[in-house]
Amino acid sequence: MADAYTRFIRTAVGRAIAKQTGLPRPPRLLRAADRTEPLLGPVVVLGTSAGADELAHTLLDWGADVRRRFDELRRVGSVIAVLDEVDAPDQLGEILLPLSSAMRSLVPGSRIITISRPVTGEDLARDAARGGVEGFVRSLGHEVRGGGTANGILVADGVALSSAPVLGALRFLLSARSAFIDGQLLRITADTGTAPRDDLHALAGRTALVTGAARGIGEAIARTLAGAGASLVLLDVPAAGTELARLANELRAVPVQLDVTAERAPTRLVETLRTRGLRLDGVVLNAGITRDRMFANMTADRWDPVIAVNITSQIRLMDALIDAGDVLGDQLRVVSLASTSGIAGNKGQTNYATSKAGVIAFVDALARRLEPLGGTANAVAPGFIETEMTARMPALNREVARRVNSLQQGGLPIDVAEAVAFLLSPPVGGIRGETLRVCGQNIVGR
Ligand code: NAI
Repeated sequence: MADAYTRFIRTAVGRAIAKQTGLPRPPRLLRAADRTEPLLGPVVVLGTSAGADELAHTLLDWGADVRRRFDELRRVGSVIAVLDEVDAPDQLGEILLPLSSAMRSLVPGSRIITISRPVTGEDLARDAARGGVEGFVRSLGHEVRGGGTANGILVADGVALSSAPVLGALRFLLSARSAFIDGQLLRITADTGTAPRDDLHALAGRTALVTGAARGIGEAIARTLAGAGASLVLLDVPAAGTELARLANELRAVPVQLDVTAERAPTRLVETLRTRGLRLDGVVLNAGITRDRMFANMTADRWDPVIAVNITSQIRLMDALIDAGDVLGDQLRVVSLASTSGIAGNKGQTNYATSKAGVIAFVDALARRLEPLGGTANAVAPGFIETEMTARMPALNREVARRVNSLQQGGLPIDVAEAVAFLLSPPVGGIRGETLRVCGQNIVGR
């Protein structure tokens, strides 16, 4: 449900006040539950490279209404600008400028996606063009109206645009499941993974562990993964045992009451998995806490638990799961919960930001460790999400935090959950050590 300000500003009086004063008017975000079609059409594929042709054919296979030009289109659902062969900045306009006159024809919840190559440091003009795409995406994200978004996919040289991770990322970013992801560039480094399946069965046959699953974002992740067909092991502290048992019962999941910081937590988890004969294909390291305080007033009883829960427990759990040798599947996907605080820093959160910046570095190192085992690891960095954690913020701070992003509202736990489900899916093997921000393009940080 929308926050109180958003509900007011959508009334006739609120609209009139907003018009006169320039107050923000948060758009309605269409999420998967609000939209019947997985991809918004018509989809216009811009660009003339072989990769663009190939992508247009794939979209046709997905049943999309695909066009190669805007022509007289009065409504445009999605735009994919394929820029994989640009060699100099002066080539960008030819592909991108036709979109300019179509901006007003974009339907609510539209998707604009660039597909380009990352800079390599090898060619001045080519790198400038490739780097330029990032600036374009980040600016356009601020300009798209009606709850639409602009994002990019950066595909390493040598990886085909038709490869599984590119198609997986494209399908996710085109869908309503990416409603709160805006102005981001997702990097694909290798052609590893299997082709995307339909969204309802994206995780069928896979088993995933979710820590901190009893409430908030963890609960939303559990529900979303179950909805995509995954079998679940749900973990939370004994104090949350009742909520955990209820959820596990509903989702036919295995509940595990465990404090992730306990000395024996990693061995107990491994024992539980062995006893039940389970192998994990997905691990979601979501359990997290805040103990905010200005650093001048920081004490060990606020610093230590945050580091212990938010990062040290993750390292210990992953070490134990990998070392056990028999409790992980061979296409493992790990997703850890970072935060935009870990990217940009945040006043009063030195402890939390330290732990979350640690998470961002940790998934990068973990992805390297899992690569020879056929697995990968990535992080999701939520911005302001409406949960019990953020409900405890001072009211004014909370109100400001909600508005300082391109979509002018807080995200919902489901938005984070959808991103986690995507990063757990088989196609994303070639996405390694990335941190995907789910923040509506919050103005803080990169
Ligand atoms: P929450 O406080 O609503 O839920 C956290 C869950 O983790 C609870 O069920 C709690 O019992 C569990 N937990 C805490 N310590 C644990 C431990 N030692 N062992 C096992 N379970 C433990 O928090 P929320 O908002 O759902 O956050 C989930 C994750 O998302 C956290 O890692 C948080 O840092 C991250 N995040 C949240 C944001 C937000 O706006 N709510 C923004 C950025 C990141």
